[in-house]
Amino acid sequence: MWCVLFVCLTVVAIGFGNELPESFRRCGQAEKKLNDCLKAAVPDALRQMKAGIPSLGVPPMEPLHVSGIDISSGAGPVVITQNYKNIKLHGLTDSVLTTYKADLKRYRLRTDSITPKMEFIADYVMKGRILVLPIQGKGVANITMVNLVVKHDLIGEPVTRDGQTYMHMRDYKVKFIPQKVILHFSNLFNGDKRLGDQMNIFLNENSDLVFNELKESYEKSLSSVFQDVTNKIFDKVPMNKIFPEDP
Ligand SMILES: *[C@@H]1O[C@H](CO)[C@@H](O)[C@H](O)[C@H]1NC(C)=O
Repeated sequence: MWCVLFVCLTVVAIGFGNELPESFRRCGQAEKKLNDCLKAAVPDALRQMKAGIPSLGVPPMEPLHVSGIDISSGAGPVVITQNYKNIKLHGLTDSVLTTYKADLKRYRLRTDSITPKMEFIADYVMKGRILVLPIQGKGVANITMVNLVVKHDLIGEPVTRDGQTYMHMRDYKVKFIPQKVILHFSNLFNGDKRLGDQMNIFLNENSDLVFNELKESYEKSLSSVFQDVTNKIFDKVPMNKIFPEDP
């Protein structure tokens, strides 16, 4: 076991059939306390993955790079197009899990994590309107989520290859519930400092509204990143080596 959260773990390729590294705690399928075991083992594995797992193509987790996100929010109080590139997520490996529900017979994993401070740092371009105010800029965005609760719902399916069963994740849903969001966009309004400072203050005074309008797009992009990372491992390590039948 070990794995799975947003990410998971590690594994060393040896010959055919990859294995989990020795340093990972194992949680057997039959273990009575499978959920308790995973709750501890997954964040522990995540912390061991700060630099990634090159042999499996698992990228570094600290920070985790995301290529780009395009957001168009059409209606309501926030009408905006945003493009983020060179995204770096900092803080994921400090996450802890508050609940874990594994239903291996249905290839389903559900867990809630809490990340004390998740920083989303990216190059941004945006243009639009927030409430009554026009906004535009091109610079560096810092969206910091404090005490971020993430609900993860991983929906897997068995895939058989070379006589081995793999637990492929065909869907990965996340919900973000931050206690607080702190936004900062550099170089708003072509670098007009007074307007930019005022807008950053305004965005933070209305951060619940602003974040709620954009949340779904962030969730969609990040869930696909988490899904890719999870599958890097789950598509390579047979299920019975992740969750041993008799540990
Ligand atoms: C992003 O903003 C947070 C909260 O204001 C701050 O603590 C952090 O240092 C900032 N990160 C960067 C890279 O500017």
